[in-house]
Amino acid sequence: MRQSPLVLVANRLPIDDSVAPDGAFEWRRSPGGLMNALHPLLRHTPATWVGWAGGTGPAPHLPDVDGVRMRAVPLNGEDFRDHYEGFANATLWPLYHDAVEQPEYHRRWWEAYQRVNQRFAEAAAEVAEPGGLVWVQDYHLQLVPGLLRDLRPDLRIGFFLHVPFPPPELFMQLPRRAELLRGMLGADLIGFQRAQAAHNFAQLVTKVLDLPATDRRIGVGDRVVRIGAFPVSIDTAEMATLAARPDVADRARRLRQDLGDPERVILSVDRMDYTKGIEQRLKAYHELLASGDVKVRDTVLVQVVVPSRDRVAQYQILRDRVEHQVGRINGEFGRVGEPAIHYLSQPFDPAELVALYRVADVMAVTPLRDGMNLVAKEYVAARVDGTGALLLSEFAGAAAELAQAYLVNPHDLDGLKAALLAALRAAPEDVAARMRAMREHLGRNDIHAWAGSYLSALEETTSLPGRRTTS
Ligand code: G6P
Repeated sequence: MRQSPLVLVANRLPIDDSVAPDGAFEWRRSPGGLMNALHPLLRHTPATWVGWAGGTGPAPHLPDVDGVRMRAVPLNGEDFRDHYEGFANATLWPLYHDAVEQPEYHRRWWEAYQRVNQRFAEAAAEVAEPGGLVWVQDYHLQLVPGLLRDLRPDLRIGFFLHVPFPPPELFMQLPRRAELLRGMLGADLIGFQRAQAAHNFAQLVTKVLDLPATDRRIGVGDRVVRIGAFPVSIDTAEMATLAARPDVADRARRLRQDLGDPERVILSVDRMDYTKGIEQRLKAYHELLASGDVKVRDTVLVQVVVPSRDRVAQYQILRDRVEHQVGRINGEFGRVGEPAIHYLSQPFDPAELVALYRVADVMAVTPLRDGMNLVAKEYVAARVDGTGALLLSEFAGAAAELAQAYLVNPHDLDGLKAALLAALRAAPEDVAARMRAMREHLGRNDIHAWAGSYLSALEETTSLPGRRTTS
């Protein structure tokens, strides 16, 4: 078994299987959040990625992807149901997102979570070179840092949580809260999206484990674990290059014509998830159409939803409700050839998505709770002409950085309507000034800056005897 100096561990491998037009089976780098986020870093460092390849069969043997070795961890049907759909996405996901849906607690799911985390830790322990660096990602794998430290105390271990970390009042519901915290504390550095999350974590380890903690350091026996905020970002330059491509600009012009050349195009792009505030936004739009503040011929809403976790009951229910709502709004306010909402529920090609970003005068990103929301950042990076208004939920991690967006509380229906109208009617100079400030921020704080700041903070940590801990 060849070993690597850098090992990434994430629930998903950054690849999808697909069948090419000639019928041949192939693996392709998959588009989307975390995969895109780490891709630039992995281009330049010899690395192995440990993760699940999708499906419930034995682990496939996989080709390298852009020079990165792929190490697949298998999940059987029971693991998939109880670990991925169960503990990860029906216990932790809703709990960490303000319990906007009721988290479910089942002992069988917890057993599967432990078992699968152990399997990931063993795979990482096998492929990491002596003294190497292992970076574990996200809520599916919170026990891995602790399990890995037991197996390989020589490693430097990082953990990054892409989703929110909840306040103690919510986290305390978890039946196995102490074990989860201890699992995370196996890391040398625990990164969160926002400072508030690090604060929540410090409070919890004091309360549950009685450990000395500040919002930066936690004492665990003779080790010091660092914690902090490292807001994740996107490859801003890559996005700007794609947006400026002549074929993308042409596609954007054609899309605008196909939409009936309206005065204003509003766009929303979400994974089909109850945390995204899709229903609240559609309700606000419905009321604006009903009151006549928004007219179908002048204004068009394009709602893209990417299907997600579609075997989990709460996701199926949401999809039915959203589609019912869209049907009702189109039935009441659409005309022949002029729907009120263009609803697209399908995976999207990146160039087509960027063409849509270029068409959108207003981008509405209004989750009820979101770790970061990279769609908001992609929109800003794609607005190479410096125009475009971003309507952004206060409860998205991105709001801490993109303070010049039109910020909104998505639970406040009247506030949501008013903010959407303000964004639609804003003076072009105001829109441009806000966009300029946001683009400057993103230019400095891209994905390279994120990975660089996290990894240099990790390299400064140590919990090994003989290594000095800097403050
Ligand atoms: C969120 C999580 C990621 C996850 C993604 C897609 O962004 O933080 O870890 O990969 O959603 O969800 P899925 O369940 O399809 O992996």
